[in-house]
Amino acid sequence: MIEGMVITIDGPAASGKSTVARLLAYEMGLQLIDSGAMYRAVTLLALEQGVDISDTQRLVSIAKFVGNNLRARMEEGARVKIFIDDRDITEEIRGAAVGKFVSPVSAIPEVRIQMVEAQRSIAKGGGVIAEGRDMGSTVFPDASLKIFLNAAEEERVRRRYVELLEKGKKVSIDDVKKEIEIRDFIDSSRSASPLRIPDGAIVIDTTDMSVEEVIFSIKDLITGICHT
Ligand code: DC
Repeated sequence: MIEGMVITIDGPAASGKSTVARLLAYEMGLQLIDSGAMYRAVTLLALEQGVDISDTQRLVSIAKFVGNNLRARMEEGARVKIFIDDRDITEEIRGAAVGKFVSPVSAIPEVRIQMVEAQRSIAKGGGVIAEGRDMGSTVFPDASLKIFLNAAEEERVRRRYVELLEKGKKVSIDDVKKEIEIRDFIDSSRSASPLRIPDGAIVIDTTDMSVEEVIFSIKDLITGICHT
């Protein structure tokens, strides 16, 4: 039954959704839709091509290209690699420049239309975990299970800071805090599909939970719907 399911996991930056979605998809043999990676890929290509944020037409054509050519590959150990055709963009889409511009790019309704179309097409056969900001509210309103992960801002800042330090990036905690606050503000105040708790979603506050605990509670919810 799990094969036909669409499970959505939404939440703000650094709420733990990417890690949880990736591990769950790996353990359960489901396909992962990392929608943030799709918006990041559009932003990367736009920056490389020197496209202005006001040039909607060119951004839409990049979004179409990303929708048709982006592939996510799940590797051993639940590592996910993101490709545009044969080009591995896994690291580049997590860079500072992309991080700075991805929220304004993803706030453009015409860009979102392209991404939503691509996300629905990936999920056509079911067996999918879709992770992002609007997966349960806009893209898959009829999902079998909708989860909204949240965590106190202080804890989200701490997690992102530790993650960046582990990657060898030199950042200050104040800069990380500022980046998360700006991202939260743009993502939740934009007019097109703002970050919201989707109707019917189960909210999990992960502030005091380990990744294993969050995964355990979601698996419990999945087992629950499989038996109803
Ligand atoms: O989850 P992430 O940090 O990779 O997401 C990067 C940005 O993409 C985030 O600031 C908002 C945007 N995004 C979105 O608007 N809708 C989604 N479904 C996923 C991400």
